[in-house]
Amino acid sequence: DWTPDSFIETTIAQLKEKLGDDKVVLGLSGGVDSSVAAVLLHQAIGKNLHCIFVDNGLLRKDEYQSVLDSYQHMGLNIKGIDAKQRFYDALAGLTDPEKKRKAIGRVFIEVFDDAAHEVQDVKWLGQGTIYPDVIESVSVKGPSATIKSHHNVGGLPDFMKLKVVEPLNTLFKDEVRNVGKALGIDPNILGRHPFPGPGLAIRILGEVTPEKVSILQEADAIYINNLKAGGVYDKVWQAGSIFLPVQSVGVMGDERTYENVICLRAVESLDGMTADWCHLPYELLAKISNEIINNVKGINRVVYDISSKPPATIEWE
Ligand code: XMP
Repeated sequence: DWTPDSFIETTIAQLKEKLGDDKVVLGLSGGVDSSVAAVLLHQAIGKNLHCIFVDNGLLRKDEYQSVLDSYQHMGLNIKGIDAKQRFYDALAGLTDPEKKRKAIGRVFIEVFDDAAHEVQDVKWLGQGTIYPDVIESVSVKGPSATIKSHHNVGGLPDFMKLKVVEPLNTLFKDEVRNVGKALGIDPNILGRHPFPGPGLAIRILGEVTPEKVSILQEADAIYINNLKAGGVYDKVWQAGSIFLPVQSVGVMGDERTYENVICLRAVESLDGMTADWCHLPYELLAKISNEIINNVKGINRVVYDISSKPPATIEWE
C-alpha cells in the first residue's frame, strides 16, 4: 500500500542506487515541489546535492532571506544568488507580458547555468516535476515552455544537457504535501499558495521598475499577513496583489494626492484551470485597505477583483 513513509523509503533507496557518488544540481523556488524534491535527494545523497536559489528581485517581501534561512536550517547544501539587478536590467522598457516572461526565463537560465558550472563534475539536474506536469504536455505560460522555446535558438545551456532526476514525477500535489509532511518540512513551506515563476513582474502591469516592486512588496505583505492573522490564508487557494499603473485622485489630510492603485486578488480553485473569486469578509478587506493606504507610500486606492476564471485569468498578465 502507498503511504508517504513507504514512498520515502523506496525512493531514497532508488535514488542512492541510481546516483551513487554523483553530484546533483537543483534549483529551489521556495515552493512545495522543489522543496520536497530537495529534501528527498538530500536524504539520499547528502552534500552531493547542490541547491541553487536565485533572487530575481521579483519575490515577495523578505522571501529570499526567509526561504534561504529555512533551507539552511534543514541542513541543505544551498547557494543563494542575488541576481536582482540582472533581472531588472532585462525588464527595463518591456511592457508586453510575454516579452517580460521571456526575458525573465532567459536571465534565469543564464544565472542558473553560471551557478551550475561552479559545481565541479556535476552529472545530474534534479527537478521537482510532479505527475500533472508530466501529463500536461505543454503549459503555455510555465517556465518549462520558456525553456522549450530556447531549445530552438542556438545551443542548449550546459545544465540542460545533464541527466534529469525527478523523484516526484509519479505524485499528485496532495501526495507531495503528505510526503513533505512526513519528511518534517516546515508547514509554512508546504502550505504556501502557488506563486508564478515570473513572480511580481506579472503582477505589475506594464513596465517593471525596482520602485514599483518595492511598493507592491509592501502592500502584498500587509495583505498576506492579514489573511494569515484572520485565519483565512489556508482557505484560499491563491492570493496576491497587483500593482495597477493607473493614477487616481485622493485626499490625505489637506493634501490632494494623485497616486497608484493596488488590486487585491484571492481565488478558490482546484488546479488553477478554473477559479472563483473568494468572498472575503468585508471587515477584513476594510482593515487591509486602511493599512495599505496608510502605510504604503505611492498608493491611495485599493480595489478587490471580483472576476472568476474563465473568462478572466487568475493573474492579470
Ligand atoms: P492564469 O493567470 O493563467 O494562472 O489563470 C493560472 C495559474 O498559473 C500561474 N501562472 C504561472 N506560473 N509561470 C508560472 O510558473 C507563469 O508564467 C505563470 N502564469 C500564471 C498562476 O499564478 C496561477 O496559479
